Amino acid sequence: MSARVRALSLAPDPEPTEPAAARAAAKPMLKFEKVGFDYDERTILRDVSFAIRPGELVALLGPSGCGKTTILNLAAGFIRATDGVAFVDDQEITGPGPDRGVVFQAAALFDWMTVADNISFSLRCAGKGAKERRQVAEDMAALVGLSGVEDLYPYQLSGGMRQRVGLARVLAAKPKVMLMDEPFSALDVQTREVLQEEVLRIRDRTGCTILFVTHSIDEAVFLGDRIFLLTDLKQGQFDEFQVELPSPRANGDNRLDASFIKLRETIYRKMRH
Ligand SMILES: Nc1ncnc2c1ncn2[C@@H]1O[C@H](COP(=O)(O)OP(=O)(O)O)[C@@H](O)[C@H]1O
Ligand SMILES: [Mg+2]
Repeated sequence: MSARVRALSLAPDPEPTEPAAARAAAKPMLKFEKVGFDYDERTILRDVSFAIRPGELVALLGPSGCGKTTILNLAAGFIRATDGVAFVDDQEITGPGPDRGVVFQAAALFDWMTVADNISFSLRCAGKGAKERRQVAEDMAALVGLSGVEDLYPYQLSGGMRQRVGLARVLAAKPKVMLMDEPFSALDVQTREVLQEEVLRIRDRTGCTILFVTHSIDEAVFLGDRIFLLTDLKQGQFDEFQVELPSPRANGDNRLDASFIKLRETIYRKMRH
């Protein structure tokens, strides 16, 4: 029986009521319905549909030029769909908003501001006082593993630390959804792997929904609850993989797990054919 019928019925409801939490969890946080996008006359996407649950991490995987950033830009509201509709938390996406935070490949930090001021920048824009800004900066620095460097300037940080500041700055605005576009691809392998684990810990602590764009199969398998392998977005086609890895997910040893290796091979073969 649908919720609508039940609401109209005067008879006692014979079915157990679904718990509110389960209902909320079933509602997608990010949804595309037959979304299309053209640059001038050129079709980039057509009929792209998917739904991402609250707290889920979906990796968008595909070769350069396949449309990953276009999907992320549509979700961010930087560009508008030519056809179809994109939703965040049931609201149609018509532009950027504080419910969505975007992390790019290079953290565009303000070089003249300290780490703390960079992290709490959105609070300053919202007119929050110095004490609250400092507290949030310290909390977010701790969340991304940066405690103790709040008073340094960006030029005093390594590339990995700069990306952590970029992540903390986005998290300070408490977004429902984080949109990450190849955020670690300019970093060395070790730093990248540490930050991947950090992303999973942050997701667990904040419950944030994450759309993570990458062209690395390993990164997609390590991070994703699901992977969308973008094959032909002009026809709305992509392959979906469910990732089954041991919990907790934020464990580097998962890279050695048999299911990790198997899924990596499956996706590799799929990408080659
Ligand atoms: N501003 C733009 N104007 C015209 N075409 C664009 C623009 N940005 C991207 N494209 C084209 O859209 C396609 C998808 O690009 P993009 O989403 O950036 O791919 P990816 O992130 O997977 O590398 C590419 O063919 C690219 O050339
Ligand atoms: Mg891109």
